[in-house]
Amino acid sequence: MTGEPVLDVRDLTVTLPRRGGRVTAVGGMNLTLGAGEIVGLAGESGSGKTMTALAALGLLPGGARTGGEILFEGRDLLTLPTRALRDVRGRDIAMVFQDPMTSLHPMLTVERQLTDHLRHHRGLDRAAARGRALELLETVRIPGGKDALRSYPHQFSGGMRQRIAIAIALACDPKVLIADEPTTALDVTVQAGILELLDRLRRERDMSVLLITHDLGVMSSLADRVSVMYAGRVVESGPRGTVLTRPRHPYTRGLLDALPHPGEEGTGLRPIPGLPPAAGSVGDGCAFAPRCHWALASCARTTPEPLHLDPGHSAACPVDPLAKEVPV
Ligand SMILES: Nc1ncnc2c1ncn2[C@@H]1O[C@H](COP(=O)(O)OP(=O)(O)OP(=O)(O)O)[C@@H](O)[C@H]1O
Ligand code: SF4
Ligand SMILES: [Mg+2]
Repeated sequence: MTGEPVLDVRDLTVTLPRRGGRVTAVGGMNLTLGAGEIVGLAGESGSGKTMTALAALGLLPGGARTGGEILFEGRDLLTLPTRALRDVRGRDIAMVFQDPMTSLHPMLTVERQLTDHLRHHRGLDRAAARGRALELLETVRIPGGKDALRSYPHQFSGGMRQRIAIAIALACDPKVLIADEPTTALDVTVQAGILELLDRLRRERDMSVLLITHDLGVMSSLADRVSVMYAGRVVESGPRGTVLTRPRHPYTRGLLDALPHPGEEGTGLRPIPGLPPAAGSVGDGCAFAPRCHWALASCARTTPEPLHLDPGHSAACPVDPLAKEVPV
């Protein structure tokens, strides 16, 4: 990334109420997103990817408490008054949710959902909002024009619904789009179409995209930089090419080793042993230690700080996993 970040997440913590106590869902998260940049946020289920995104939009579940800062254009989104945050949300920062049906209202037409947004944030009258809604459907390549506007979400396929959710997110020309697993549960051709769309939009609009996905294949086709999250923290981050070909954290290497490598018999599909820790069960030391082949005695005691390696590349581990053999 060059220049000032558009979005700058600094030491973010999120705790949530559970069974009379609190659990840590995000425990010291750092991430930057530059103008026109696509940053991929990867990590197994439960690592805190969605909670990080929801924190930026002020949409965390009730009772959540946050620490740290999320700076957007110099303002901390975590302390912004509700009204100011509501203006930022949707207009400056928009989100495509993990399940498109979460962001689409099943009982409202596509037109109503697109134009409400435009009228509220942009103050457009009905006719202007309708014209803009048609343009947006064209942008995301939903055929049918006015007929599509009159339709309800259930009348579209999963891939098309995801495109409509993207159209709604784009309605106000946001500077930042957070796309949470935008292609999960879609077949590969539909997936490729959505990824191509996101790439085109960032090029045409200089929009920044935080692309949340546990799929490193999706990441490798689109992201400029990649951050890998484990148990509520970023354990490695850097340029896509570096992180995905020369990982410096044992967890990243584990994720890559678990992928199939077409054409290379006998490689890949080597799952990481064990399971990620449940929220609230992470104690002192490196959270990955119980699953790590190369854990040192000190790993269980001290949480490793990020080591700055090549420019823009850091990993929170003293061990270089590429210099090691994976025990059979
Ligand atoms: N409403 C909630 N109340 C309490 N804990 C929650 C709540 N929602 C999520 N969590 C916990 O917060 C942690 C982070 O969850 P989050 O949804 O951010 O994970 P994620 O990385 O997005 O996972 P996935 O890949 O499955 O979407 C998890 O351990 C989860 O159990
Ligand atoms: S800090 Fe220790 S336990 Fe954690 S990933 Fe590195 S070697 Fe493994
Ligand atoms: Mg999630």
